[in-house]
Amino acid sequence: MSGGLSFMAMPGTTQLDPALIPVQVSAEVIPVIDFAPFLHGDATAKAQVVRQIGAACRDTGFFYVINHGVPAELVAQVYAQAKRFFALPAAQKAEIAIENSPCHRGWFRLGGENLDPVRQTQGGDLKEGIKIGRDLPATHPLVLAQTPLHGPNQWPSLPGFREVMQTYFAAMEGLGRELLHAFALALGIPETYFDTWLNTPMTTLGPLHYPPQTGRITEAQIGAGAHTDYGCLTMLAQDDAGGLQVRGKSGAWLAARPIPGAFVINIGDMMERWTNGVFASNAHRVVNTSGRERYSIPFFFDPDFSAPVECLPTCLPPGEAPKYAPTTAGKHLLDKINASFDYSNFN
Ligand code: OGA
Ligand code: NI
Repeated sequence: MSGGLSFMAMPGTTQLDPALIPVQVSAEVIPVIDFAPFLHGDATAKAQVVRQIGAACRDTGFFYVINHGVPAELVAQVYAQAKRFFALPAAQKAEIAIENSPCHRGWFRLGGENLDPVRQTQGGDLKEGIKIGRDLPATHPLVLAQTPLHGPNQWPSLPGFREVMQTYFAAMEGLGRELLHAFALALGIPETYFDTWLNTPMTTLGPLHYPPQTGRITEAQIGAGAHTDYGCLTMLAQDDAGGLQVRGKSGAWLAARPIPGAFVINIGDMMERWTNGVFASNAHRVVNTSGRERYSIPFFFDPDFSAPVECLPTCLPPGEAPKYAPTTAGKHLLDKINASFDYSNFN
């Protein structure tokens, strides 16, 4: 971290620690990939998309997808519902507080998550959010078996909220399955390889609200502290405020600028582990210096709780041992969540 004199003056009253300023590295770009040929094209067109996705996953682990098939109107509705919820008085939001949920669903307050507890020692991320998962009734076998992270959602009493979120949830789950098909082909395994572990996938829709950050900003508290994602695959819609930064191969922080209609796709730790490090789970962070509210909609796509996560057959060079011990998707996620949410201790 750097001293006060070198802080950069931003519009308004904001001063940014130079360590938080993204740079342009011409050799490092986050590619924009047109997904339509994968969904609807012929074999040659599909293979071309697979190559692009494979290259991005091996490089920074980040890419944009456009023409992904999720209607812009639906994404707009999710933003509208999320904004309505976040605008409620805290007491009303607290009616669905995540602390009340046995399965990590509901609202978490500003600072309730700390994605970089090493640098952010004074408080958590400058964001609030909602965790929405697969809405399982008490009678579902996985709930009856008391599987951690499985159970019902907590819904706010806002007309239309639940319907919009559930429609989006289904659409993004469909896209996640297609992306995993592309990943499998990019890894040289059968297209449907991962489908075996997608019976009751642990998918989470997590709308976020970042208030504007002003004053002197250091790595000690930003919108989302530097972190890697925990799971397999994240699909993010971000509004036009900007502020998402991705760590490139060179170690430089790159701005992941908003592209209307695109999702930012990234690999998480579980996929890095599953691929023995062939696919990269890279650090990213959010600094909202836009001077206004920022909203984003991450969707985390993870397989079944029981999915074995151990080195894929095509990811082990001859004569080498796997870099990671085998685990399961459920165990991997629980370890990560317990480390970053202040209230939680799932086991
Ligand atoms: C996350 C994340 C980025 C954003 O939730 O893991 O990195 O733009 N979000 O909100
Ligand atoms: Ni993230």
